[in-house]
Amino acid sequence: MKIGIIGSGHIGGTLTRRLRALGHDVTVANSRGPQSLADLAQETGATAGTVEQAADQADLVVIAVPLLAVPGLPAELFEGKIVVDANNYYPQRDGEIPELLDRSLSSSRWTAERLKGARVVKAFNNIQALHLMESGRPAGAGDRIALPVAADDADAKRVVMELVDALGFDPVDAGTLDESWRQQPDTPVYGTDRDAAGVRQGLAEARP
Ligand SMILES: NC(=O)c1ccc[n+]([C@@H]2O[C@H](COP(=O)([O-])OP(=O)(O)OC[C@H]3O[C@@H](n4cnc5c(N)ncnc54)[C@H](OP(=O)(O)O)[C@@H]3O)[C@@H](O)[C@H]2O)c1
Repeated sequence: MKIGIIGSGHIGGTLTRRLRALGHDVTVANSRGPQSLADLAQETGATAGTVEQAADQADLVVIAVPLLAVPGLPAELFEGKIVVDANNYYPQRDGEIPELLDRSLSSSRWTAERLKGARVVKAFNNIQALHLMESGRPAGAGDRIALPVAADDADAKRVVMELVDALGFDPVDAGTLDESWRQQPDTPVYGTDRDAAGVRQGLAEARP
């Protein structure tokens, strides 16, 4: 696939490395511009681009930035695209956002409202970057970690679940964007590296 990655830090950098290793055509962008990504591009074979270049022409775009940066992204470029939302809301970093603080919206619903027309899929938000880098295992391995995947668009969700599997993790259908609070920070599946049964149980046991 042609994949754009917005954010080149812990999660964006990790997904650049892992998705390139699977042979995908990756363009990666950050806030400082392509010249700051020369080393990552050299290391991985990814293309260093602007945010616009990463989103343009991509079949799928990963957003791995502090949530506060989402409203400033060029929303029109994401229209109709599969957008993987790996972000989490941390008030101390992202500021006070009332509908997230009072949990009346999931953070992915909030993001989807700012990227109108994007086919938003929440995934990779609940695993530490280092484990995403190193803990992928072949299907059937006893120690395979499972990752929840939530979306309203069934086709987009299927594509991302296949990507999760290819990266070495068991994808678990975690429902819709409105249900995706069940994989946010402070829930049983957040950072706990559970297997598929454990993720299903954790999603069911999550409390608002
Ligand atoms: N760290 C983890 O293990 C982990 C795990 C799961 C989910 N997450 C979530 O994933 C998101 C990213 O976390 P992270 O740890 O990868 O953060 P990080 O290491 O601080 O990296 C953030 C990246 O976002 C880029 N960025 C910031 N504003 C931008 C903008 N306006 N346009 C384009 N790029 C922009 C930064 O660009 P520069 O490099 O130019 O500053 C940087 O590359 C967060 O929402 C976090 O909560 C993190």
